[in-house]
Amino acid sequence: MRIAVTGANSSVGLRLLEQAANAGIAVNAGVRSERALRSLPAHDLISPRIISYQEPDSLDALLDECGSVVHLAGILIPGKHTSYREANVDATASVADAARRCGLQSLVFISVLGASPGSANPYFRSKGEAEEIAGGSAPAGVVIRTPILLGPGSAGSAALLASVKRGKASLLGGGKYVLQPLDVDDLCAAIIAACRRPEAGTYELAGPERIAYRDLVRQTAELLGRPIRLRSVPVWLARLGAAAGSRLRGGGITPAVIDVITADEEVKTNADAALGIELTPLRETLAKLQEIQPS
Ligand SMILES: NC(=O)c1ccc[n+]([C@@H]2O[C@H](COP(=O)([O-])OP(=O)(O)OC[C@H]3O[C@@H](n4cnc5c(N)ncnc54)[C@H](OP(=O)(O)O)[C@@H]3O)[C@@H](O)[C@H]2O)c1
Repeated sequence: MRIAVTGANSSVGLRLLEQAANAGIAVNAGVRSERALRSLPAHDLISPRIISYQEPDSLDALLDECGSVVHLAGILIPGKHTSYREANVDATASVADAARRCGLQSLVFISVLGASPGSANPYFRSKGEAEEIAGGSAPAGVVIRTPILLGPGSAGSAALLASVKRGKASLLGGGKYVLQPLDVDDLCAAIIAACRRPEAGTYELAGPERIAYRDLVRQTAELLGRPIRLRSVPVWLARLGAAAGSRLRGGGITPAVIDVITADEEVKTNADAALGIELTPLRETLAKLQEIQPS
């Protein structure tokens, strides 16, 4: 089996390449720059390719001889030169077009819990619009909505580990928002399962436990054997700071990003059984962070 992966240098992508190669799956790994190319693991089964979402030929070359494409490229934090439309919506449309042209069997798209084309939040709206494009594509569109992801290099893990390293954490609204963190390895197992047996549909895949963010920080610190002090930052103040900062810098953390970070996560029906995977207990996921604990 051969699959294509966009955003192969993302935190999910790097883990997926490793798992796929270990499972004997060949991967055409698409990235946008030479720098990103150098970050990919060297392996006989991994064929790195530079792609541009504005150049259909480069996407067709990425999808060459593949049965499925896993579209991982996407952003939460907009930059001066990167908008939700470009990164989340237009890039998905380019990949879906290429998958149709190349006659692929399936397109697996990683979305987020809360995605909706009608959302008032621009991030959730862009992911919702992208879901419609991916789900409506000619090959089977498999949409996997995820919560905060924990694993090497993920933004969620980096934030947790940075707080633990500092020994203090500033929690938005006291960190009362409730998350359902998913182990990146579980997501990668689900993606591989979806590539092997694509069943078109939208799947909500979250971890086995719901936990308030403040308790997640406490638990991580405890597991890593570090003391930690927690303080609360009012959400309105964080939104105000984000509005000013993002306007000054032309991007970065916006009030909409603060709203995404502090949104409660909940799934109605967890798709672990439907996708044929076993969820890792949260404690085990957190214990794995020890391997990437900053000194
Ligand atoms: N991490 C989470 O907690 C989480 C939660 C829910 C959903 N997801 C979704 O899961 C996927 C992977 O997430 P991740 O955290 O592993 O990603 P990540 O590490 O932040 O990497 C983002 C990827 O998107 C690419 N990208 C950025 N701007 C782009 C643009 N304008 N056009 C095309 N590609 C662009 C980046 O390529 P360059 O390096 O070239 O910029 C990189 O490959 C994303 O779609 C994300 O929305 C993640």
